[in-house]
Amino acid sequence: MALARFCVSLDEELLQRFDTKIRKEHYPTRSKAVADLIRASLVEKEWLADEEVAGAIVLVYDHHKHDLLSQLVDTQHDHQTLIISTQHIHLDHNNCLEIIAIRGQAHRIGIFLKHLKAIKGLKHISLAAGTTGKGLQ
Ligand code: NI
Repeated sequence: MALARFCVSLDEELLQRFDTKIRKEHYPTRSKAVADLIRASLVEKEWLADEEVAGAIVLVYDHHKHDLLSQLVDTQHDHQTLIISTQHIHLDHNNCLEIIAIRGQAHRIGIFLKHLKAIKGLKHISLAAGTTGKGLQ
């Protein structure tokens, strides 16, 4: 991978705020922080442009709720072409954490997420909107 250098002109106060932020996040260099911001914006564009993307959906629920469980399984079967794998962790006597690894067209993942959110009784649902990594260094 060839490195390119470029010069950026910024408002001084904005640069100071950026430097404070990346110091707190333990970035080794400004270059690494800027590259991560650019990559994050490219991944966001992949989702907005309805490209093939990858990521994970995280759920927390009480497994004693049988209606919830059957709806959760039904919904996953309805969207099984998007699911790479599912990991189920028994957090304690009541609570389960489920991680659904997904890959597919962004809008189809959006529909899957909406159907999951419609299930009553979930304690938590979130999406980690990632990328297949194609086209990113
Ligand atoms: Ni469990």
